Amino acid sequence: MSDKRCFLGLATLLTALLPAASRLDVGFYKKTCPSAETIVQQTVAAAFGNNSGVAPAMIRMHFHDCFVRGCDGSVLIDTTASNKAEKDAVPNNPSLRFFNVVDSAKAALEAQCPGVVSCADILAFAARDSVALTGGNSYQVPAGRRDGRVSSGTDNSTRDLPPPFLNATQLADSFAAKNLTVEDMVVLSGAHTLGVSHCSSFAGVGNNLADRLYNFSGSPDGVDPALSEAYAFLLKSICPANSGQFFPNTTAFMDVITPTAFDNRYYVGVANNLGLFKSDAALLTNATMKALVDDFVRSEGRWKAKFARSMVKMGEIQVLTGTQGEIRRNCRIINPLSAATAKHHDEPGSSEFTGVAAT
Ligand code: HEM
Ligand SMILES: *[C@@H]1O[C@H](CO)[C@@H](O)[C@H](O)[C@H]1NC(C)=O
Ligand SMILES: *[C@@H]1O[C@H](CO)[C@@H](O)[C@H](O)[C@H]1NC(C)=O
Ligand SMILES: *[C@@H]1O[C@H](CO)[C@@H](O)[C@H](O)[C@H]1NC(C)=O
Ligand SMILES: *[C@@H]1O[C@H](CO)[C@@H](O)[C@H](O)[C@H]1NC(C)=O
Ligand SMILES: *[C@@H]1O[C@H](CO)[C@@H](O)[C@H](O)[C@H]1NC(C)=O
Ligand SMILES: *[C@@H]1O[C@H](CO)[C@@H](O)[C@H](O)[C@H]1NC(C)=O
Ligand SMILES: *[C@@H]1O[C@H](CO)[C@@H](O)[C@H](O)[C@H]1NC(C)=O
Repeated sequence: MSDKRCFLGLATLLTALLPAASRLDVGFYKKTCPSAETIVQQTVAAAFGNNSGVAPAMIRMHFHDCFVRGCDGSVLIDTTASNKAEKDAVPNNPSLRFFNVVDSAKAALEAQCPGVVSCADILAFAARDSVALTGGNSYQVPAGRRDGRVSSGTDNSTRDLPPPFLNATQLADSFAAKNLTVEDMVVLSGAHTLGVSHCSSFAGVGNNLADRLYNFSGSPDGVDPALSEAYAFLLKSICPANSGQFFPNTTAFMDVITPTAFDNRYYVGVANNLGLFKSDAALLTNATMKALVDDFVRSEGRWKAKFARSMVKMGEIQVLTGTQGEIRRNCRIINPLSAATAKHHDEPGSSEFTGVAAT
């Protein structure tokens, strides 16, 4: 009897001390804002109907949110006079796009249930909806993320985003730092079945590491030998030498076979030296990664199922829950500390206060 009580006491203590494996819940807004997920879905679907680039944009934005300070909506915050935000750091500007779609969803949600749905959750829902809209599997999104109050484009936090010239080891390390496996990394790289890239990411000017077309180190013609010659020829026509300097906004499709479909052609491309980035081509240089690429070439269904699972896992990185952080009223602006909330923030030992101070 007393043994059992002691065990229960210990279990309670452990529960209080250790962060739970997953502190998010499917259907989190069922009672507080029943139409939350429908509102996001309709907003994303309408924007996607107008411009199909919305889907890759939302999927990448969620990834870039999660890899920097966790999935806390920090990527959505605007730069102010006193703070250069995450979205204006090199890996995000000018490549992240369609922030206005998140704004539309947030405006609709604030009209329906003010102060309830976090910007971080909106992004997680929007990414899921984007996968479904382009032909991927839909999946349930555990929710209850809270929004962070910090976004910095000048500290080192955006260095957690993997640049496109990483090799296999570096890619695995970058994902491992977020507790994601090699398989998660290969599976999630399949998001490059959608969307576009600026020339600078593969024909980089001022970044020789990213230059696969004109000045590849050790290659007589300057072209990365891991890139198909025919594809390199095509890419050179889209991105002339110095294009980064003179045509900074030019982009190329990332999946040259089916650029707007959420299918396994990304892996077919990678296996045939049509991967756009060094990081895409790198998946062939490691036996474990190559075996996964080959498996996804064989079975689109297996990849789609795994993609949904890895997205959920990515969406759980370092989330704020409970009373941590806040529910931002405008996704671009940290909530002002009103008199009421300031009082709460000043409470010694308030988890919200320590959360803010620590990040
Ligand atoms: C494995 C490491 C990864 C690297 C090195 C990488 C790098 C990049 C780069 C450089 C771009 C193009 C940016 C530009 O110049 O316009 C891009 C685009 C994109 N990435 Fe990744 N990425 C990685 C993983 C991921 C993951 C995990 C996801 C999502 C699950 C993702 C989704 C996307 C999408 C959808 C686009 C197209 C965005 C658009 O069209 O707006 N990427 N990625
Ligand atoms: C449709 O997309 C274009 C850009 O492609 C944008 O300028 C316009 O505002 C969008 N319209 C709506 C209704 O979203
Ligand atoms: C950022 O990283 C660089 C190189 O790793 C280091 O020298 C610098 O001190 C870091 N800055 C901050 C604010 O952590
Ligand atoms: C990847 O790059 C790192 C750093 O340059 C290097 O130490 C490592 O050997 C490389 N790994 C592979 C598999 O090329
Ligand atoms: C593939 O990469 C992973 C992660 O870096 C590493 O543990 C593994 O040894 C590599 N496999 C081979 C065959 O190089
Ligand atoms: C990874 O998992 C470890 C052990 O559970 C945890 O301490 C760490 O905070 C996690 N890292 C991230 C980025 O989630
Ligand atoms: C080509 O790359 C080398 C280093 O590998 C660099 O020194 C040189 O400036 C680059 N040339 C151009 C035109 O970018
Ligand atoms: C590239 O796009 C930015 C942002 O829309 C714009 O300000 C700039 O003028 C564009 N540059 C060129 C050369 O078209």
